[in-house]
Amino acid sequence: MGCHGSDGMGHSQGDIPVIAGQKTDALVAALRRYASGQRAGAVMQVAAAGLSEAEMQKAADYFSALPGLADIALPRTHPLVIKGKPHTQLPACASCHAPGKAAPLIEDQRANYLAARLRHWQGEKTVIDAHKPQNTMAVITRRIPNDEIDPLAGALANPPGP
Ligand code: HEC
Repeated sequence: MGCHGSDGMGHSQGDIPVIAGQKTDALVAALRRYASGQRAGAVMQVAAAGLSEAEMQKAADYFSALPGLADIALPRTHPLVIKGKPHTQLPACASCHAPGKAAPLIEDQRANYLAARLRHWQGEKTVIDAHKPQNTMAVITRRIPNDEIDPLAGALANPPGP
């Protein structure tokens, strides 16, 4: 509550993601990965490590039910979102982050958080194996040119821009 706010909107701070309205499964998965150390993030690792499985589920249910992120089509204002880059095997973001699909909601998220999350995946030192489904984003982000991350994050974000 202190950081994300009881409304899950993150007090409009750029580096704190909006968790209100995020899919329950995405929130639980993130908490599990923080708790196990698979996902780095000093503050969240400490916060998640103290939660039981039932508490994670309860917190995720609570924030997921609040008005915030919505399961709507991504904005079509950046070419990577709708087209990707077929010649470098970078798939369009909208092919997975689309209404009704399982991927977490990223539209109207904070730009700084989106950019930081993408850069973190680019720098992750784990072995990248495209056959492991949990590494999807680590594989994808390595194909995004570094100078396109901020414009891409800005195009997805609300308010737009960094
Ligand atoms: C093949 C399907 C697929 C494609 C294409 C894809 N994503 Fe993802 N994305 C996922 C999945 C699955 C997750 C959740 C896995 C995780 O967090 O480790 C995810 C997670 C994310 C997250 C983290 C959300 C959060 O708050 O935890 C961001 C940001 C993101 N994707 C951005 C993008 C962008 C930008 C693109 C286009 C360049 C893209 N994704 C293309 C499947 C995809």
